[in-house]
Amino acid sequence: SLHEGENGFPFVTLQTAAGASAKIYLYGAHVATFKDSKGRDHLFMSSKAEFKQGKALRGGIPICWPQFGPGKLPQHGFARNSTWQLNDTKVEEGVTSATFLLKDSEETKKVFPHSFELHYTVELKGDEMNTVFLVKNCGSDAFDWTGALHTYFNVAAIDSTSVKGLKGFTYVDKVQDAKEFEEKGEDIKFTSQLDRVYLKGASNDVHIQDTEGTEKVTFSSWKDVVVWNPWVEKAGGMSDLGEGEWKKYVCVEAVQVSDVVRLEPQQSWSGTYAFSKL
Ligand code: BG6
Repeated sequence: SLHEGENGFPFVTLQTAAGASAKIYLYGAHVATFKDSKGRDHLFMSSKAEFKQGKALRGGIPICWPQFGPGKLPQHGFARNSTWQLNDTKVEEGVTSATFLLKDSEETKKVFPHSFELHYTVELKGDEMNTVFLVKNCGSDAFDWTGALHTYFNVAAIDSTSVKGLKGFTYVDKVQDAKEFEEKGEDIKFTSQLDRVYLKGASNDVHIQDTEGTEKVTFSSWKDVVVWNPWVEKAGGMSDLGEGEWKKYVCVEAVQVSDVVRLEPQQSWSGTYAFSKL
């Protein structure tokens, strides 16, 4: 069932018998919290997130689609700024889930003249959150898209956090003129703004380790992994981020950008992305 949140933004709550829960807004099909049965919220939400049409919520899991990053469309596309429908909620043995739907509309056709459906399922399986993201071309022409599940993970302190599992992958460094490098280290550490697209990095599990534990992140179909923290200067320019909150999160995102996905009429693409504490 739907509840009314900040500024009247409706949200749904998922709950498992063991006590894990999630809060998901219809706006953006935005997962804002995921608390496991021990009460730990795996996701970061900004204390200054703005609940306003046309503005993305800062934190949680924004869905970037049909464009990741800057380009013809507004930054990160329109899915995160659109109100989705709640299609279905299910409680089955050990799994509680909700499926959200976004279809083309007059609004979306102005900027993206294609007919599509996005089906996004969020599942709580014990203390794991699993997502299934499906894109379907419902029109009669092919279209291309890029996208991401732009997850903000809570960390105890960014300067004692490391991201593991990306050694040997090539990355595009967005803070160094989009130059390509090979990741040499077992651990990615944070000492200044870090904004990298690890190409084909999603073929590995990624671990986010902080002083309190380790989050394991797994991917299928999604090819790339973006790792991002804005650090102090860039965070200063983000009006919807609370004071000092840049220290409290790291984004480890499931991304499809190095290969643009082309969908022929009636074709679909789906990818899964899941996380849990070790
Ligand atoms: C990241 C980009 O994925 O998203 C960053 O790599 C960007 O460059 C960040 O700043 C946040 O974007 P936005 O539009 O949500 O402020």
